[in-house]
Amino acid sequence: MTPYGMASQSQVKNQQLWWQSGIIYQIYPRSFQDSNADGIGDLQGVINRLDYLKWLGIQAVWLSPIYPSPMADYGYDISDYQGIHPIFGSMDDFDQLLEEVHQRGMKLILDLVPNHTSDQHPWFLESKSSRDNPKRDWYIWKDALPDGSEPNNWLAMFGGTAWEWDETTQQYYYHAFLKEQPDLNWRNPEVREAMMNVMHYWLKKGIDGFRVDVMWHMVKDAHFRNNPINPDYQPHQATVDQLLAVYSTDQPEVHDIVRQMREVLDAYEERMMIGEIYLPVHKLVTYYGENGSGAHLPFNFQLLNLPWNATQLAAAISQYEGALPEYGWPNWVLGNHDQPRITSRVGLQQARVAALLLLTLRGTPTIYYGDEIGMQDVPIPFSEVQDPQGLNMPDKNLSRDPARTPMQWNASTYAGFSSEKPWLRLSSTYRRLNVESEKDNPFSMLTLYKRLIDLRQKELSFTAGDYIPVYSDQQILAYKRTHENAPAFLIVLNLTHRPAYFKPEHDAFKGTIVLSTLPEEEGQEVDSYFALSGDQGIIIRLH
Ligand code: GLC
Repeated sequence: MTPYGMASQSQVKNQQLWWQSGIIYQIYPRSFQDSNADGIGDLQGVINRLDYLKWLGIQAVWLSPIYPSPMADYGYDISDYQGIHPIFGSMDDFDQLLEEVHQRGMKLILDLVPNHTSDQHPWFLESKSSRDNPKRDWYIWKDALPDGSEPNNWLAMFGGTAWEWDETTQQYYYHAFLKEQPDLNWRNPEVREAMMNVMHYWLKKGIDGFRVDVMWHMVKDAHFRNNPINPDYQPHQATVDQLLAVYSTDQPEVHDIVRQMREVLDAYEERMMIGEIYLPVHKLVTYYGENGSGAHLPFNFQLLNLPWNATQLAAAISQYEGALPEYGWPNWVLGNHDQPRITSRVGLQQARVAALLLLTLRGTPTIYYGDEIGMQDVPIPFSEVQDPQGLNMPDKNLSRDPARTPMQWNASTYAGFSSEKPWLRLSSTYRRLNVESEKDNPFSMLTLYKRLIDLRQKELSFTAGDYIPVYSDQQILAYKRTHENAPAFLIVLNLTHRPAYFKPEHDAFKGTIVLSTLPEEEGQEVDSYFALSGDQGIIIRLH
């Protein structure tokens, strides 16, 4: 069997590729599993937990960065694109991980951070060494304005100006994030070539794809014009939101680069690229590229930001479905390492309804580690905050640490994550909310996820079928998933805490409840009238 045997089989079955029919699972490596008692997760730890992911029904694992890094932004400041940070293990550990992932018929996706490097990366050290260094133009250097101030008004994502003054060479350099994360100059062909070589390096090793960090940031306005003031800015927002990032992000030239990256991937068999892109839907879909020559999956983050309201969600889903080009495969995300967890945005009960939504919508779902057991944001006392976004804007409650706490495996000391004190504190509730205690509990979040995943993966209507909106009001969101060669399903979700009633006027929906957030109701026959409890979601197999 070739390393791609599994995907090819599924392709024959329903003409889909692995990243279309399967589920992606994001691991934040620091927090998944420690194997060497330093309180920080590592690659051997991930290897030890692969059977769990296989059991859960995951197709692909995406690892947040594992490369050498001073960790100013916890690995998103890379000082060597082709190495492994010793904290996570060695290249041998990585090779073993890749092999073990493939042995289980799964795929491995790495984070690629092409927009910026660490300020400790040899490229930047060279670039800043003198104005005539051959790598000077690999980064974005500008003179001060006549009064000594920054070249323009651009702000950094993590607070303050985006320009840092360099005493030695008497110029500013641009950093969209921390000053320890200087932006590369993607208009320079040498930079492009260097990064394409990085991609080749990992693809030749056999990884199955990349999640490309801040894809929409990669090219900046050629004239570095000032960004306009955001008229809707609210004081609780990050300071960067005072301006609209009109000139600092999403420039037309970015699509050339994405296409170039795609060409690299297409030289290998069945590899894929996810783009991290926070943009409105009509702009997001341009990242599929002309005729699908761009990202395979521009991350669709709508469920992270929209108010938890049935009519708004129904509208957003249809808007997205309508905006997708015919070659664009959809995808959905409920959480990641930069956002509050779904449980902390909509509550524990609604997080169950959200799981039904994520796993029954059309397109590839990405699950953030721990969401499947209902992990909640953990309050981190200020003295323990690690995340630079939290440290730099302390009064805005923007730290991402609460959603990055160690995975809760069991009720033992340190939750089975480590034998030593973890780098970030554990949830105080881990003794009851953990994989082991939830595995055999028919009412747990984990059981709900597991059963949803099983259902999704065995029914063509979910993995490959159409999405048909049925109904929405202030409480209920209902839609159908259908496929010509398979049973159809009706999904009815109550997005509120109060009972809700739904009586379709024109259609008949006779069927059997095959899955419910209230398992007691499974097996019931329904016939065109639905009375749902608060926080209930049901999946009906239609007759
Ligand atoms: C992306 C990452 C985030 C990181 C930032 C800068 O948004 O997801 O964690 O801080 O890029 O690299």
